[in-house]
Amino acid sequence: MEITYSELSKRAVASEIRELLKYTRIEGITSFAGGLPEPSLFPLDDIARISKQVLETNGLIALQYGPTPGEPEFINSLVKHSSQFGEEVKPEQICVTSSSQQGLDLVSLVLADKGSEIILELPSYIGAIQAFGRTGVTMNGIRMENDGMDMNQLEEVVKQKYRNGNKIRFIYTIPDYQNPSGIMMSLEKRKQLIEIAAKYEIPIIEDSPYREICFNGQSNPSLWSLSGGEGVIQLRTFSKILFPGMRLGWIAAKKEVDEKFALMTQSVDLCSPTFNQLIVAQYIKEGRMYENIQKAIGIYRQKNKAMIDALREFMPSGVTWSEPTGGMFLWVNLPNHIDAKEMLAVAAENKVVYVTGKPFHCDGSGKNTLRLNYSFPSIAQIQVGIKNLSQTVYEFSNANHLL
Ligand SMILES: Cc1ncc(COP(=O)(O)O)c(C=O)c1O
Repeated sequence: MEITYSELSKRAVASEIRELLKYTRIEGITSFAGGLPEPSLFPLDDIARISKQVLETNGLIALQYGPTPGEPEFINSLVKHSSQFGEEVKPEQICVTSSSQQGLDLVSLVLADKGSEIILELPSYIGAIQAFGRTGVTMNGIRMENDGMDMNQLEEVVKQKYRNGNKIRFIYTIPDYQNPSGIMMSLEKRKQLIEIAAKYEIPIIEDSPYREICFNGQSNPSLWSLSGGEGVIQLRTFSKILFPGMRLGWIAAKKEVDEKFALMTQSVDLCSPTFNQLIVAQYIKEGRMYENIQKAIGIYRQKNKAMIDALREFMPSGVTWSEPTGGMFLWVNLPNHIDAKEMLAVAAENKVVYVTGKPFHCDGSGKNTLRLNYSFPSIAQIQVGIKNLSQTVYEFSNANHLL
């Protein structure tokens, strides 16, 4: 049968990163490629115990369809979780999602049309680029500086589009320990961003999976908090602070905006898994979520340090990297003439792999960049892996007479 596929499905292209994952199968290789949490943090015993308890005490609800915006018990636990980390959100401002990737899908469905103009960071999260790209939007990338988007360029682009009669539909940002760069947006830039967005009436999409994973106790207030929720739609997830297998997250938005998301969710998946919501609600209620996050912070802080120390010790000059104070990723800038994709085959021979930076750039730039993940490999693997990566840069440069 000759099947006619939708235009939208034709735009859903495979990510270049999937291609690269073949290297991660090579025996003995150190992979800095994924974005996986450290598995020893998965609270197997607690989840087994709470699952049983939920089935015994609330089983008929747990296994049934639930309300589209989320189970009230879970929503209340999200309010508690948020307040433990200094965020205020009201139950009616929450729409539960099957994690943030669904949140991004919903953003595309609710806010964008084919041909809409949007703004995002350069680089930005590849899954967002895919979700927005599939809708057929026009993406305007804004350069990242050490403390977030270049606000002058942002305002210039907004103004120029405005003059041409094109209102930007939304600005997408990952302000906390960004994936992929690890950069945290400064307080000053957060305020500037809110001001520019308010002036031109552009909603901000604040995607923040890593917010709680802060190594030095010095996180900045979220855009959601700073704006009092006005004009900001926040995407949150438990994937990185608990585990991704639950597929649970939430959208925080002003009540009337939140209702739009809830309505769209009905046609996407009716409701997020009820059983999972009740398990996580209990986990938060018992205070275990907070404890587990503190443990995660301790482990990731050590791994982050191990990676930065190894980069300082082994990397040749001309290579620079971000030194994040939270999250799971670190960003490397190679000398301009080195193509990280071409270098990957040499890296794999040296038993180390990473994710190339270009697919994170909506404008096709960034060929000399790469992303390193430090949450998944062990400290020993990080040390050996960075040594091998540094060796790879030398070898690749020498073979190509580049340094
Ligand atoms: C910035 C960002 N947004 C969204 C996601 C999607 O995560 P999930 O769907 O597991 O919540 C990720 C995952 O890596 C991410 O880094």
